[in-house]
Amino acid sequence: RIATVILSGGAGSRLWPLSRAGYPKQFLSFSGGPTLIQQTASRLSGDRFSAPLVICNEKHRFLVAEQMREIDTEPAAIVLEPFGRNTAPAAAVAALHLLAEAGDGDPLMLIAPSDHVIADEAAFLAAVDHAAEAARGGALVTFGIAPDRAETGYGYIRRGEPLEGGGEVYAVDRFVEKPDRETAAVYLAEGSYFWNSGIFLFSARTFLGELERNDPAMVAACRNAVEASRRDLTFCRLDEAAFAEARSDSIDYAVMEKTAQAAVVPVDMGWNDLGAWSALWDIGQKDDDGNVVLGDVLQHEASGNFVRTDHHLVAVVGLSNVVVVANDDAVLVADKDRVQDVKTIVERLKAEG
Ligand code: GDD
Ligand code: MG
Repeated sequence: RIATVILSGGAGSRLWPLSRAGYPKQFLSFSGGPTLIQQTASRLSGDRFSAPLVICNEKHRFLVAEQMREIDTEPAAIVLEPFGRNTAPAAAVAALHLLAEAGDGDPLMLIAPSDHVIADEAAFLAAVDHAAEAARGGALVTFGIAPDRAETGYGYIRRGEPLEGGGEVYAVDRFVEKPDRETAAVYLAEGSYFWNSGIFLFSARTFLGELERNDPAMVAACRNAVEASRRDLTFCRLDEAAFAEARSDSIDYAVMEKTAQAAVVPVDMGWNDLGAWSALWDIGQKDDDGNVVLGDVLQHEASGNFVRTDHHLVAVVGLSNVVVVANDDAVLVADKDRVQDVKTIVERLKAEG
């Protein structure tokens, strides 16, 4: 079975005012049904996989435990970080935790972000099956999404030659994390690049080996944090002093850009990382004027808008291409093409306390 690791440490600040520091987007539902982390855990609940290891900030421990309980999922572990150090230390901690339980083994681990939607689950599972053999052979496998715009918030993967044993898995020629807009436009035009979905499959030892080659101090800090962790029935708390020594970095920069062992499985699975409000307009049900509306909303001569309100009646007149999100204590009004900048508001709120 493949071990599964759910990364749940992000803040989701571009989805303010719904996503909050104390209640980030992975714990929210955007469909009225299960929350994003619940959808993630359910997607990983089949026979191929073992129970998930969830790694999150300690202040979200009860949210994780409660949301897993709601869907009758018993995590293999809930590992608590005293503070975020980005995804490379989180994945290293997960790998070390799994290896401590695996004895001489070398488990395959699927790293899953907690805050994406995948509409076509069968396509996702088929891609995992294709990736598994390559991962057993020592590849660090990424899942590549065909790009449709010069997005700068993603990693870009240039496909190389097919690996042995079929045309589903390719070597990676190049991995470039979050290129600037011009570079992203060049990659898009070139046609041989995929977006990195942020989901990875590799063996625990392969990943740690590649991370250690580039940053042995990070692996040492994570090893100490796991060895000195305190465990009770529900949670595993990393040692704070040891984890503080780990540099903050993402898997993408710390490993994927540098390794020669990367591979990619292209997959068309209705993937969306809900990075900003425009993504919810993209996947939402549109009316005749191209508006996506959730809640009590009236519009007149308005089109291409995303309007969501929890309680208040919201009326929009004569505006196009705007995002309006109203909840209990805050209202966001933004140009739909500028929603990436919502995070600047969150930064100001933080700075102003
Ligand atoms: N446990 C833990 N600790 N999880 C974290 C931390 C942390 O410090 N930081 C982020 N995460 C979680 C987030 O909650 C999310 O589920 C996942 O790890 C990825 O982190 P993001 O911060 O959302 O990364 P990104 O979106 O900027 O970039 C990554 O995903 C893109 C696709 O959505 C990269 O892998 C890109 O290459 C990729 O294209
Ligand atoms: Mg993300």
